[in-house]
Amino acid sequence: MKTAAMGNEQWATGLRDPEPAAPSPALADFAQNVRLGLQRTPKQILPRYLYDELGSALFEAICRLPWYRVTRAEIGLLARHGTDVAACLQSPVTVVELGSGSGEKLLTLLEAMDLEPRPSDIHLIDVSAEALRLSAQALSRLRVSVSLHQTTYRAGLQQMAAARRPDGTMLGLFLGSNIGNFHPAEAQDLLRGIRGTLRPGDALLLGVDLVKPEADLLAAYDDPLGVTAAFNRNLLVRINRELGADFELGAFEHRAGWNAVASRVEMHLVSRRAQRVSIPGAGCVATFAAGETIWTESSYKYDRAGIAALVGPAGFRQREQWIDPDARFALTLFEAAGN
Ligand code: AVJ
Repeated sequence: MKTAAMGNEQWATGLRDPEPAAPSPALADFAQNVRLGLQRTPKQILPRYLYDELGSALFEAICRLPWYRVTRAEIGLLARHGTDVAACLQSPVTVVELGSGSGEKLLTLLEAMDLEPRPSDIHLIDVSAEALRLSAQALSRLRVSVSLHQTTYRAGLQQMAAARRPDGTMLGLFLGSNIGNFHPAEAQDLLRGIRGTLRPGDALLLGVDLVKPEADLLAAYDDPLGVTAAFNRNLLVRINRELGADFELGAFEHRAGWNAVASRVEMHLVSRRAQRVSIPGAGCVATFAAGETIWTESSYKYDRAGIAALVGPAGFRQREQWIDPDARFALTLFEAAGN
């Protein structure tokens, strides 16, 4: 890395400034999403960029908040029904998980499934290097082969198609209500992509957060400790660091709202005043009116009929569905239908 302090050294050795290194593809994607997203009305940035190292750690903290019950509800279901899932699969099982987070859910499921032999291969697809690191660590004591794919779901699924063994069952895992981050048409498109990497008889285990009273949803996405606010505002910290921007953190506040018509929680960053922010790494300057927002996440909530309507047309048949006693969360096992 070149720093200002190295100037003399370069002069002394007669070296010329090296060409600036080409930005990594991931950084170029981020820059492009920020530039295009801030030109749109309303301004928006994709939720996948919330998960840098600190963002992933803040998300893990959210999962432990008393007001965010998604993770606990799902882990309970995985522990209780892992054996039922296993009963639907033929060995050897290859597992592919989209968005593994800390790996805790997968570990819970694998232990509850108690497969003999153990799954032959586990593939984890996540854009967050931190999530992959945590997951690999969580799974290390299982003595199974774990492949890490630091990429988007789309690109990861393409790599998966090549990894499909000719025998046994491929089990796709899409847990944590990660599917809720996609608008329904995109979610269905992604499910078709998952179906495309599976063969008839393979399985998909999908975790979906259910519609619940608005007050519960708002407490989950605007918690009294401010952890979710920090998770959201950390996106600006990341833009400042990676794209050299000058977002003033005190000038933006976290807002979560329930959009009942669309059945989604929306997270926004609200500009407290009129302001201009320059983002050299994205080659742009963004102008904000007072009260204008950046929409950073949608978290769609479904009911049982909504889940069936989303997943069925993508080429899956529902096998089993488990819902926790408080009706907060649904875990549904699907089978890839014939072509
Ligand atoms: C990981 C996308 C499922 O939408 O509930 C938690 C992320 N955002 N609190 C969700 C999140 C705010 C979470 N997902």
